[in-house]
Amino acid sequence: MTKTLIMAVSLVLLTTGAAVRTTAPASAQALPAGQRAAPPVTFHKDVLPLLQKNCQSCHRPGQIGPFSMLTYKDARPWAKAMKQAVITRAMPPWFADPGYGHFNNDRSLKQADIDTIVAWVDQGAPEGDAHAAPPPIAWPEGGWQIAPDVSVDLPPYPVPARGIVEWERVAFPAPFKEDTWVTSVEILPGVPAVVHHMCFGFQKHKETTPYNEYQWMEVPRDENGNMQKVDGTTTGPLNGVVLSRTAGSTEVKRRIGRPEVFDEGTNEFCYLPGLPYEDYRPVHAGVFVPAGSDMIVSLHYTATGLAVTDKSRIGFTVTKTPPAKTFVPQDGAEGDNPPVARKQANASLAIPPYANDFPGPMAEVAFLKDVELVWFRPHAHVRGKTVRYTLVYPDGREETLLYVPRYNFNWQLTYRTSVKIPKGAKMRVQFTYDNSTANKYNPDPGRWVRYGGQSWEEMGTPNMGFLIDRGADVNGVLLER
Ligand code: HEC
Repeated sequence: MTKTLIMAVSLVLLTTGAAVRTTAPASAQALPAGQRAAPPVTFHKDVLPLLQKNCQSCHRPGQIGPFSMLTYKDARPWAKAMKQAVITRAMPPWFADPGYGHFNNDRSLKQADIDTIVAWVDQGAPEGDAHAAPPPIAWPEGGWQIAPDVSVDLPPYPVPARGIVEWERVAFPAPFKEDTWVTSVEILPGVPAVVHHMCFGFQKHKETTPYNEYQWMEVPRDENGNMQKVDGTTTGPLNGVVLSRTAGSTEVKRRIGRPEVFDEGTNEFCYLPGLPYEDYRPVHAGVFVPAGSDMIVSLHYTATGLAVTDKSRIGFTVTKTPPAKTFVPQDGAEGDNPPVARKQANASLAIPPYANDFPGPMAEVAFLKDVELVWFRPHAHVRGKTVRYTLVYPDGREETLLYVPRYNFNWQLTYRTSVKIPKGAKMRVQFTYDNSTANKYNPDPGRWVRYGGQSWEEMGTPNMGFLIDRGADVNGVLLER
């Protein structure tokens, strides 16, 4: 994987809170509850089960939702906002067009569920009989979603009250002394409000990899903020001013060169708001981590007005018995991970001023092996408008597997699926961009926008995750270990 991708994930500017949703709600025509002879709708009997299933994963203490929905007392003051959020389908965050594909983590509300919440609010949001409530969900201890067998505590990270915190990378030894199959992974942010993203990947240890040293780049830019050509490429810094800081120290060192920990991909596993843990146990898969591997972590913190110290943790479940399948993330600007090859003329991306529906360079991902596609995680920046994944079978038949009609930069969602893809098939991935004034996230409609890692630049990265049979020979790389 390459620098480009790292930046793609690193520079995500996940704004929260201020978003005012504008959508054409499918449910706007739903009958006001008052016009139906429906029985009274109460919190405990009717609404709480929906909140447990679709909302509480984020809306409970310590999670990313701005208020709790565990109890009537918590939720009641937000009743009107809840109605608004569900009829506009701003909540729960889910942007796939239901007309395409099948997603096993689809958390969008059914129309009947929306109608229930609307009816409840329209009836004055009554509490009802507490005995009618379902038992509370036993959310995992300590904020974890998985019960990890092994966990790593990242060094405490002081996040200032104000200013821009650059995206950084840091290496640690992985916590496995022996060859290990990892079957689930969770990144648990210490202070979710300041963790905009955190991703990591495993890497074979190199002599040159420093541990516990945060490294980041000073990116040369022109007066418009466009990334300058460095080392003959526009897609990312290869050489430049490297800034670094040892964990626990505030002293920043500066040198010209190449950051050691920028060489390999780090987005195998990510925490992003709305992105749950990775769990391969239900699909009998795992990720092989050779003894003595390193973890390269990429971090993007955000100042929120309050200085805090983040203590994030990374947890794993592991097995000694090799699972039947191996998980393979696919990405990198060149997409050179087996078992796929990606072609995409990223450097040619140039979105004209005020263009409101501009197609970016199409990505074409060729499948060199039979694979099972298990997730999509499309990534663009604030001008991202739509994305479509179309599978072209070897016989030429085409099928749209995911269409996101309103891509939202604030939510880096993973769409989980299960699609068997034969060798010889191709995935075409088309992003479109809105550089017009109609895009409320657009910081500057009057400028040309080119490919780059900053949020005011653009990208269109068709991240996907695959399973392949353990033991499969991929591009001459035997995955049996
Ligand atoms: C994946 C996490 C997640 C889920 C699931 C989720 N929310 Fe949210 N919700 C958030 C976050 C984060 C915010 C604050 C940022 C924003 O508004 O985008 C928010 C904001 C809200 C707001 C406040 C909007 C405003 O006016 O500022 C409401 C109301 C809300 N959610 C209702 C719901 C309801 C109802 C559900 C379930 C049907 C739900 N949410 C599911 C994460 C989530």
